[in-house]
Amino acid sequence: MCSDRTPADTGLELDDIQFGVLHQRPASYVGTYLLLRIDDREAGQELIGRLLPVIESARSSSDPARHAWVSVAFTYQGLKALGVPQDSLDSFVPEFRQGMAARAADLGDTGDSSPDHWEKPLGSPEVHVALSVLSPDAERLGSLRERARRAHEELAGVEVIWRQDCYQLPTGRTSLGFKDGIGQPAMEGSGIPGSDPDEPPIKAGEFLLGYPDETGSTGPMPTPEVLGRNGTYLAFRKLHTRVAAYRQYLRAKAASREEEALLGAKMVGRWPSGAPLALCPEQDDPGLGADSGRNNRFGYGDDLRGFKCPAGAHARRANPRDALDHEMSADVRLHRMFRLGTSYGPMLPEGVLEDDGADRGIIFVFAGAHPKRQFEFVKTQWLNDGIFIGAPTEKDPLAGANDGSGSFTIPQRPIRRRLQSLPPFVITRGGEYCFAPGLRGLRWLAGLDTRNG
Ligand code: HEM
Repeated sequence: MCSDRTPADTGLELDDIQFGVLHQRPASYVGTYLLLRIDDREAGQELIGRLLPVIESARSSSDPARHAWVSVAFTYQGLKALGVPQDSLDSFVPEFRQGMAARAADLGDTGDSSPDHWEKPLGSPEVHVALSVLSPDAERLGSLRERARRAHEELAGVEVIWRQDCYQLPTGRTSLGFKDGIGQPAMEGSGIPGSDPDEPPIKAGEFLLGYPDETGSTGPMPTPEVLGRNGTYLAFRKLHTRVAAYRQYLRAKAASREEEALLGAKMVGRWPSGAPLALCPEQDDPGLGADSGRNNRFGYGDDLRGFKCPAGAHARRANPRDALDHEMSADVRLHRMFRLGTSYGPMLPEGVLEDDGADRGIIFVFAGAHPKRQFEFVKTQWLNDGIFIGAPTEKDPLAGANDGSGSFTIPQRPIRRRLQSLPPFVITRGGEYCFAPGLRGLRWLAGLDTRNG
């Protein structure tokens, strides 16, 4: 038990939560994801000890726009490699224990997205530690990366086995051309506002372990408490986007450039600027897209049939807001998530329709306390299945597990439009479930008595 703790119901232990889990990232940044393998327990523990000074808490007053920050998380295999006792390992949720590759069939990671085709070593038992190093500019990233490199120096028992550079453009747009990262919930007690001023903050226990969640109970927490409390689960996925195929598809389906832009927006639920179809269904409104006070302040309640924003659009599937029928509408709060995603790879220049062979897309990162009913539910029930919107055969046109046979319905008068033969626009290149402990948990891991292992 830890003495410097405030009781769960009086507030969040901000000084114990990793900064990167809670805080919004600056409008633009650069970064690197690193995956490491621990070949020697003591070296792994030493690594955590050396990293601790560069991992800030959520209480830190540092403004990410002036600063750089590091976050660290572990896979199940990583905790095992660190010598975490079996009864503790057994106390983590099953999907984390199984690893993401084992969940592939359920998640729709089949065909080109199946683990057989994943980039090595993603999804393999070799992945133990995930590090993200992010900064507003390359210079500060370089100096932080250097500190992280020194933390790893001369640690013969820890290997860097994968590296992926990433970035967020000042426009916030990702490879398919749309501004992303707009819709984020607020967490009760964090003091950090969500992006929809009308959405009441979500209970802390939906995002962090050890606090009451939206069901009113404190969900199961890994043991010992010092390790589980203030931690969160992450779903890390490298998602390749087939940008040329996406542009070719829209070109083939549309009679004009205007219609092409409209079909693209109907698939996403927003225009490229971020302006939501729910507020401007006819054409993009860059002023609205850039206005963080207004660009996420809307519902779908006045558009249940989807004439403005189709029920099958990506953002509406991922967060149906008030569009579900009354009984299910409270449930929406059980499926919210923090998204910490970012772009990787060069953008395909505007207007280019031919694939240039470059690897580009999104490093999608989910953070939440309930990976199954948050990330997995949204991916399987809302993105890969259309039953909840009365279109059982339709998958998310953007991020769903499409195989060329699916369709996407756009309600319009006098008759709806149905786009057929949707190819996959997003290919999973690999992924892993991780656990990001609080700072006390990290200290505990760094000082673990390996004789318990
Ligand atoms: C490469 C794949 C993906 C792309 C290109 C993509 C793109 C986008 C875009 C452009 C938006 C609208 C901007 C915003 O509201 O923030 C969005 C929203 C969202 N996406 Fe994705 N996404 C992808 C995969 C996923 C996956 C796999 C999930 C979850 C399992 C997901 C969950 C969400 C959520 C929760 C929202 C916010 C909806 C809202 O609150 O209105 N996305 N995405």
